[in-house]
This record gives sequence, structure tokens and C-alpha cells, in this order.
Amino acid sequence: MNVLITGANRGIGLEFCRQLTGRGDQVMAACRSCSSALQELKEEAGDRLQLIEGADVTSDEGLDSLFKSVEGAPIDLLINNAGLMEGVTLDHLDTPSIRRQFEINAIAPLRVTQGLLDNLSKQARVCIVTSRMGSIDDNDSGGSYGYRMSKAAANMVGRSLSVDLASRGVSVALLHPGYVRTDMTGGNGLMDTNESVRGLIGIIDRLGPENTGLFWHTNGEVLPW
Ligand SMILES: NC(=O)c1ccc[n+]([C@@H]2O[C@H](COP(=O)([O-])OP(=O)(O)OC[C@H]3O[C@@H](n4cnc5c(N)ncnc54)[C@H](OP(=O)(O)O)[C@@H]3O)[C@@H](O)[C@H]2O)c1
Repeated sequence: MNVLITGANRGIGLEFCRQLTGRGDQVMAACRSCSSALQELKEEAGDRLQLIEGADVTSDEGLDSLFKSVEGAPIDLLINNAGLMEGVTLDHLDTPSIRRQFEINAIAPLRVTQGLLDNLSKQARVCIVTSRMGSIDDNDSGGSYGYRMSKAAANMVGRSLSVDLASRGVSVALLHPGYVRTDMTGGNGLMDTNESVRGLIGIIDRLGPENTGLFWHTNGEVLPW
């Protein structure tokens, strides 16, 4: 399977690269700049891992450069993983931060997917790594304005894509990775990237037209919107 992952240099994106190359998939790892951990993985994975740097998914230049790097390459699985979480409270309504989070969490997955439509193979799968914090039903603790708003919008992007791409046989999943120990959470969480990504890959492997457009927890539950 040919896979493209954004935000591949650390955290959950890096672990996707590790597990997918480990089982023999061909992975295009898109990132703004390569980390030493991704470099090390490249040494292990060899030809199974292609590094694509300069892929800032919020800038026109970054997107153009990403699309050029993979021109003509078939993609069976696209994982929109790059994301940003910044705290925005009612007391400190930092609107530039809200906009930044919208750009990366909601608008980028749409632009990346749209720009790669010609690459998507028949029956390709498209995923957006979203968050349970974008669930309106599940929100009983408030706050986190920019993150919650942008992930709720990401969920809507995914649901619309699932409708619009159904006739091409492309299936879409919104994936909540759990509360995972990464830089984003300051190393706090209930699980490591290894466990989170193992669960997510299990969901991706079962993704098809019959279950497109759903919002999944890494533990296999379907989450409420
Ligand atoms: N960790 C959790 O508990 C948790 C829970 C729910 C959802 N999520 C979601 O899971 C995804 C991965 O999160 P993580 O925990 O692995 O976070 P992370 O360790 O902070 O990694 C974030 C990744 O996104 C990339 N990124 C940020 N802005 C970018 C941009 N403009 N263009 C391209 N790449 C950009 C980062 O690249 P740089 O190194 O260049 O900054 C990095 O690779 C995110 O979408 C996040 O919202 C995480």
C-alpha cells in the first residue's frame, strides 16, 4: 500500500511511519523539516520510506512543493495528521491563535486532500486525525476554543469528503488517537504512540464504503459528533 502522512517527523505521525513501513507499506513522510528520529527510521526502512521536507500544509508554497514532490505517485492511504493545539480561554480570547488552529487542523486537511485527488487510487482511504475535543456532544468541560472549534470543523470536512468522494470509491475516516503522550500533550496521556497508532491502523484496515464518514476512537468505538 502507498501511504502519504503529513506531520510525519514526530509524535503520532512518526509512529504511523514506523508501524506502516514495519509491515511493508511504502510511506511518503511529509513534514516541514526532518527530525533525527525520522532520519533514523529512514535508515532502517530504506526504500520503504520517502522523506518529503518543506511540506508546511498551511502555506501555498509548502503545499505546491508537496504536490510537486508526489506528482503522478499513486496514493492508497492519505493520513492528514499534522495538527496544532494551543490554549484559548474566554479570559484570553487570542483570535490569531484560533485562526492558526483553523488553518492547520481544519483547512489544511481539505487543501491537502483536494490537491492530491488525482493521486488517489481507486478505493483509496483518506483519514483525518481529529480529536474527541471536536465532539460537540462530548463537550462537557468547555474552553479550548481554537482547538475544539477547529477539530469540529475538521470533522465536518471529513464528513463532506466522505459524501463527495463516495462515487470514486474513496472512503474517509475521522480518527481520534486517544490521549497520547506526545509533545502536544507535554508528555502527558493515557497511552504511548505505539498503542494509539496500532488501534488506528486496525480501524484504517477495516475502512471501506460501508463505514465511510464515521468518527472513530482508537479503541474502535464510534464517537458522537
Ligand atoms: N496527542 C494527543 O493526545 C492527541 C489527542 C487528540 C488528537 N491529536 C491529534 O493528533 C495529531 C498528531 O498530534 P501529536 O500528538 O503527534 O502532536 P505533535 O507531537 O505536537 O506533532 C504535531 C505534528 O504536526 C506538525 N505540524 C504542525 N504544524 C504544521 C504545519 N503548519 N505544516 C506541517 N506540519 C505541521 C508538526 O510538525 P513540526 O515538527 O514541523 O512542528 C508535528 O509533526 C494532531 O492532529 C493532533 O491534533 C493528538
